[in-house]
Amino acid sequence: MKRATSLLAASLSIPGSLAQVDVPPNFVPGVKWQIVIQNTIDPNATLQPTDAVVWDLDLYHVVRTPEVVTTLRNNDPNAILICYFNAGLAQTSDCDYDSRWLDSGLLGNIYDPEEPQFSDERWVNIKNQTARDWMKDRITLARDYGCDGVDPDNIDGFLNDEDDDNGTGWDLSQADYVSFVTELATHAHSLTTLQNHTLLIGQKNAPELVEQLSDALDFAVLEDCKGLNDEEDFTFCEDFQAYITAGKPVLSIEYPSTLGDTETGACNPDGTSDEQYAASCATDQGNSDFSTVLKIQGGDGELNGCTQYCSGGEPGTEVVVTATDPELDGETCPSNSTGTS
Ligand SMILES: *[C@@H]1O[C@H](CO)[C@@H](O)[C@H](O)[C@H]1NC(C)=O
Ligand SMILES: *[C@@H]1O[C@H](CO)[C@@H](O)[C@H](O)[C@H]1NC(C)=O
Ligand SMILES: *[C@@H]1O[C@H](CO)[C@@H](O)[C@H](O)[C@H]1NC(C)=O
Ligand SMILES: *[C@@H]1O[C@H](CO)[C@@H](O)[C@H](O)[C@H]1NC(C)=O
Ligand SMILES: *[C@@H]1O[C@H](CO)[C@@H](O)[C@H](O)[C@H]1NC(C)=O
Repeated sequence: MKRATSLLAASLSIPGSLAQVDVPPNFVPGVKWQIVIQNTIDPNATLQPTDAVVWDLDLYHVVRTPEVVTTLRNNDPNAILICYFNAGLAQTSDCDYDSRWLDSGLLGNIYDPEEPQFSDERWVNIKNQTARDWMKDRITLARDYGCDGVDPDNIDGFLNDEDDDNGTGWDLSQADYVSFVTELATHAHSLTTLQNHTLLIGQKNAPELVEQLSDALDFAVLEDCKGLNDEEDFTFCEDFQAYITAGKPVLSIEYPSTLGDTETGACNPDGTSDEQYAASCATDQGNSDFSTVLKIQGGDGELNGCTQYCSGGEPGTEVVVTATDPELDGETCPSNSTGTS
């Protein structure tokens, strides 16, 4: 009796976000994935690669062209659709931008004065409950449109506010982002997907937050964790082994400069240089069992359909281009996606 009581007490003490997550059985470390967020994938083209299980697509592309969900499920009924959205900033192309964020008083500085291509994005005051509720509405929208998980981007604004820099305009700390993402996770985990699993939620970058977030979140999405485009000597990849150990996928992006033309987005059919392939694909930086894709970074090519895989092939192989249709990006948002219904 005493034992039963203490077991019950123990199970009650597990936070809901940990206890109840029902993950699709094929969502495991090493799962093959593709990410295309520059443009909407063309729902009428044959899907490439045919064997990617996890697809990370922009939420507002999916909302404007919901046929892409059918395209993915026709290709693989067990496909897992992760919907990317900007959780740390609001940008003019977001369907809820004009109706909600524009005049809310919740927008701070632009993303980065040194990166003018992102000047349509402004940091959000994630300490404000209204801002959090609106971001949670985006997560509900993702579930309603058939996403199986969400990839909330830009949860590291605290880096812009270190040393009293106040780069976001909101003086945000690591603790503010931990609190924000934890609230988003509890919300995601309260939702059931159209495929009858728990809505999953990942950690985007921010190695500083792994210790506080990895128990609550279901996967991670990393950019340049090997530091190939960065001078710093950090343990970025290694820090995310906590996810692998817990059986959670780490979906990793490396950006070798020879994969394609950053200005036009054209994909090099022979893939990256042998040297960059070796550097991007080696598993010597605490990145074993990660799901690695090589992508174009910068300009019109950033995270477009061009991808090279590391999965055991020789340099110059396994280059694929997922067909996209930029014209679809400008489609009008359906009224149920603007946040004002
Ligand atoms: C896909 O093809 C159908 C049939 O040709 C066409 O009606 C539809 O507009 C196309 N969809 C897109 C998004 O191009
Ligand atoms: C949060 O933002 C909303 C919208 O601008 C505002 O009405 C509200 O007062 C803010 N809350 C706090 C606690 O500042
Ligand atoms: C949103 O509204 C469109 C019509 O504009 C409708 O076809 C669609 O089913 C709705 N989607 C959701 C997820 O409510
Ligand atoms: C941060 O910047 C904003 C906008 O420039 C300003 O209103 C705010 O007072 C600043 N906060 C701190 C703590 O410096
Ligand atoms: C999810 O569950 C509902 C209700 O039990 C059922 O109608 C639906 O077919 C299920 N969907 C899938 C994809 O299994």
